[in-house]
Amino acid sequence: MTGQLRVGVIGTGGMGGRHAHNIRYQVANARLAAVMDVDADRAADIAGPAGADVFTDSLELIASDLVDCVIIASPDATHGDLAFACLEHGKHALVEKPLATDLDTAAALVEREAQLGRRLLQVGLMRRYDPQHVAVKEAIDRGEIGRPLMFRGWHRNPPEATPPTSKEVLVNSAVHDLYSARWLLEDEISEIYVRGTTINPERSDQLDLQLITMAMAGGAIASIEVNKDSGFGYEVGVEISGSHGMVTTAPHDTPVVRQDGHIRQSVEPDWLERFAVAYVREVQAWSTAVLEDRPEGPTAWDGYLTLAAALTGATSIQTGVPVKVDRPARPTLYA
Ligand code: NAI
Repeated sequence: MTGQLRVGVIGTGGMGGRHAHNIRYQVANARLAAVMDVDADRAADIAGPAGADVFTDSLELIASDLVDCVIIASPDATHGDLAFACLEHGKHALVEKPLATDLDTAAALVEREAQLGRRLLQVGLMRRYDPQHVAVKEAIDRGEIGRPLMFRGWHRNPPEATPPTSKEVLVNSAVHDLYSARWLLEDEISEIYVRGTTINPERSDQLDLQLITMAMAGGAIASIEVNKDSGFGYEVGVEISGSHGMVTTAPHDTPVVRQDGHIRQSVEPDWLERFAVAYVREVQAWSTAVLEDRPEGPTAWDGYLTLAAALTGATSIQTGVPVKVDRPARPTLYA
C-alpha cells in the first residue's frame, strides 16, 4: 500500500473521538475517511470538519472501497464481530481492547487470522507506546536490574457513570496491566488469583478494589492492584524488581506546588490525559506498519491471552482459589 491511508473509525466516543482527532492532526500518512457511530450526531460532528463520510452501518464502512483500514472503538461487546468483518475483507484494524468479551470469539479470531496467514489485527493494548512504560522496558533490556523477578502494577480508575462489575474491571481495565506483565517480563501468565474487597457487601459482584496475583510460566511473580473508583483520579504505573535492582515508571510531570502549609501535585483525571502521548504514538506506529504491511504492536494472540487471564481471574473471584490459565499452543503466525 502506498500514499495516504484512508482510515474508518467505528465508535466516536471518548476513545474513538481521540483516535479520529489523532489521525487527523498527528498522523501524516493517514487521513480520516469515514466514521460510524450509532449516535449519528456524534458521528457527524467528528466527520464534518474532516470531510469524512458518515456511515450508518459499521459493516458497510468496513466493506467500503473508501476505507483502507479501520479503527474499532465501539463498546467492548461489538469488537469481536467487527474484527471478524475486517478479516473477511482483508483489512487491517486497530481493535480497541478487549479483542472480544468471550474467549470462544477471541480464539476464533486468532484461528481465522492464522488461516489467512496475515497479521491484520492490532489490539489497543497501548502501554508499549507510553514513554514511561517504554523507559522501564529499555532499562530491563539493558540489563540494569538483572533478571526480572517480580512485576507490580497499579491501575487506579476514576468513577464510571455505571459502576462496572468485578468481571468488567478485569476484562475492560486490568487487561492492560495483564499485558504489561507479559510484555515487561517477556513471559506468560500460568496461574492467577484475585482477592477483592468492597465497602458494599450487598454488591459483592462490584469489588471496589482487586488484588490480582500471578505466577508466570518462567518462575517470576506478579501483582496488580486495580479498582473501580480511586476517589482521586487516574493513575497507572509499574515497578519491576530484578535480581540486581528495581525500576519504576517515572511519576507524571506536573509540578509539585508548596503553598499555604501544603505540598500538592495534581493527578490526571482519566486515561485520555494520562496516555495522551501513547495514543498518538500508537496510531502513528499502526498506520506506518499498515502502509508497509509490516505489522507490529500487540497482536490478536496478545488480545486472546490477556482476555484468557482476565476471565480466569473472574473465575478465581468466584471460586476463591488460584486458577491455572489455559494456554493453547502459539500459532506460528505469532512466533
Ligand atoms: P464511549 O462510551 O465514550 O464511546 C463509545 C461510542 O460508541 C459512543 O459514541 C457510542 O454511541 C458508540 N456506539 C455504541 N454502540 C455502537 C455500535 N454498535 N456501533 C458503533 N458505535 C457504537 O466509550 P469509550 O471510552 O470511547 O470506549 C470505547 C472503546 O474503547 C471500548 O471498547 C473501551 O474498552 C476502549 N477504550 C480503550 C482505552 C485504551 O486505553 N486503549 C481507553 C478507553 C476506552
